[in-house]
Formats: sequence, C-alpha cells, structure tokens
Amino acid sequence: MKIELNNNKVFFNKDGLKKEIHPFWLRERVNGDNFVDKATQQRLFDPTELEQNIEIHKVNLLDGFLEVTFGDGVFAKLSTQDILKEFSKNNFVKFIERIEWDSTFKDFKIFEFKENFFEKKEMYDALINFYEYGFIIFKKVPTKNNFLINFANSIGSVRRTNFGEYFNVKSKPKPNDLAYTSLPLAPHTDNPYRNPVPCIQILHCIENGVKGGSSTLVDGFTVSEKLKREFPKYYKILSEVKVRFKFIDQSVVLEDWAEMIKLDEEGKFKQVRFSPRLDFVPFMEKKKLALYYSARKKISEFYNSDKQRIQFKLSPGDLLMMDNYRLLHGRTTYNPDEGNRFLQGCYIDYDSTEGKLKHLKRKFNL
Ligand SMILES: [Fe+2]
Repeated sequence: MKIELNNNKVFFNKDGLKKEIHPFWLRERVNGDNFVDKATQQRLFDPTELEQNIEIHKVNLLDGFLEVTFGDGVFAKLSTQDILKEFSKNNFVKFIERIEWDSTFKDFKIFEFKENFFEKKEMYDALINFYEYGFIIFKKVPTKNNFLINFANSIGSVRRTNFGEYFNVKSKPKPNDLAYTSLPLAPHTDNPYRNPVPCIQILHCIENGVKGGSSTLVDGFTVSEKLKREFPKYYKILSEVKVRFKFIDQSVVLEDWAEMIKLDEEGKFKQVRFSPRLDFVPFMEKKKLALYYSARKKISEFYNSDKQRIQFKLSPGDLLMMDNYRLLHGRTTYNPDEGNRFLQGCYIDYDSTEGKLKHLKRKFNL
C-alpha cells in the first residue's frame, strides 16, 4: 500500500490497483491547531459548510508526509501512515478471530484481580481473551459494597435495565424471573426481548455455600457453525425467521422480534438468542412451521448437549464476564437449605470493552 501523486492528484495504490483519493476526503482531515482541538482531537470546523468541489493546488510527498495546499488556501501536512491506516482493517477489535470451543475446553485462562487492574497490560490480555472465547473469569475481585458496579464502570458504563443498575441472583419469594429461584437454568441468552439486547453480562459471586449451583456456559458461535455445516436448512431458517421474545411483569411489557441466529451484513455470525421460556414463533405456512420447529429442536439439542457445555463452580470473589450475543449460560440446581448462594449481576455494552481495549492498545503501543 502506498500513496502516489500525479498531476496534483493523490492516489492510493494497493497491489497495483490505483484509486484516486477525493480532494475533499483529504481536506476533511486537515489537522493543524486551527482545525482540530489538540486535547479532544475533535474538529473545530464543520466540513458540511465547505465547498465540496474543492481542488488541490499543490501537493508534495516529503519524509512520510503529504503536503497539500487546497483551493481555499488551506495548507495541510498529513501523515501518509495515518492515511494508509484508514485503508486497512482499522477497527482491530472487529477482526479478533473467535475461537470455537466445546466441553473439551478446560484450560481457559483465569485472571487475578489486582489494584489498578483496569489500566494494566493484563486487562488488555483479558479483553483479547474475552473477544476470542466469549468469556473471561477474574479471581479475587472484592465482594464488598457492590464492587461489581465499580468493576463494570472501570471498563465502561453499566447498562441499566428495568432489573436495576445491578441485580441480586438468589432465590427469593414471588420471583419475576426464574433466575431468582433455585431451579436449574438451561442454557439461555439474557434479555432477548430487549432492543438492543445487553451485550455483556457480568456475574460476581459473593457467596456460594451450596453443593450445586454450578455455572454452565455454551458457545453459541460454535453451535451455530456446527448447525451450518451439519443442517444447513435449519441454519437458514433460524437465521431468517424473526420470532417474538416477550417479558412481562407488573410494571413493564418488553417485546422484540429477532432471529435466533443473527447474521451480519456479510452473512457471518453476529448474535444468538435463545430462551425457550420467552419465544413465540410467528404464524407461518404449516410446512415452514414444521421445518422451523425441527430446526429449533435441533439447535436446542446442541445447546443442551454435554458435548458443548462447560461447567464450573464460582467461588466468592470470582467474577465471570460473558458475551451475551455469543454465549449461552445456565446453572445447575441447588438446595437453598444447604446455605447461601448469592451472585450479583449487571450488564455492559460492547462500546465499553471495545473502547477500553483500544485505549489500552494505544497506551501500551501494542
Ligand atoms: Fe440468565
């Protein structure tokens, strides 16, 4: 990749393929002190107020900089490195490859929480791990004074829901969700009825004095890739039909329509939703419904299979951070008479982890 000049025109050359860069595209990137605020890196001018047919009067390439004088008299010295960066995969987080895993995945990394952890290189490693596997576990996270909120807000910002800023997971009388009972919870994703669905769930174990109550995780990415390979028709219908997810309680009715396997613009994995307590398949022609029900049954079999699930018990101070768009989580049953099981949970969104990761990459020059 390189920048080339010809006749007051600037070109971007990639593998012999040459494309002209619009002069306005360069003019927008003018970055002197009069044009960009030093501290915030935000523009001090509004490009929509400029003439769009701006021309380049003079241009030169010198010592890694593009020196341009524009038709409106503005002079700019732009780093060619910075320009080239914009032609490559500049959002590195989006290109962290997901690694498939199943029940054989035993040696996942566990990070030990320390003072000032959020600004350390280890936090960067932890977040990379999170994007690769969909979850991370931290040990020795302080359990006093709802430290969970402090933890979440040190990565980004808590995503508040109608369950509050955080929720206490313990069995309680008259629960408005099965999570607040001691019943086993089959693998599910949280809050598929919200728009948008909270991206990341953080669960912090405060007490776990019961024999059962283990946490379970399943990789929805691995399962949906498996379904695509082995049952393409099922994969297709689950990624096309939008079902209604619904949650009601005394004060709110939450509903959203979405695919159980959501693909991105390129047809690649984006999100899974699975919560058989809350989904309503739309009315469709009988044959199509029959196919849909078979597909849902198959993916449910995969999600609930011993071959896909990892299981571990959280101890006080353990904190599990999981991707709610990728992973399904659940728990085994427990007997509340044996002791206390108390977890606190909250949500954050991808902008938190992505923003933190990019900040740490910049900080440590990685
Ligand atoms: Fe849940």
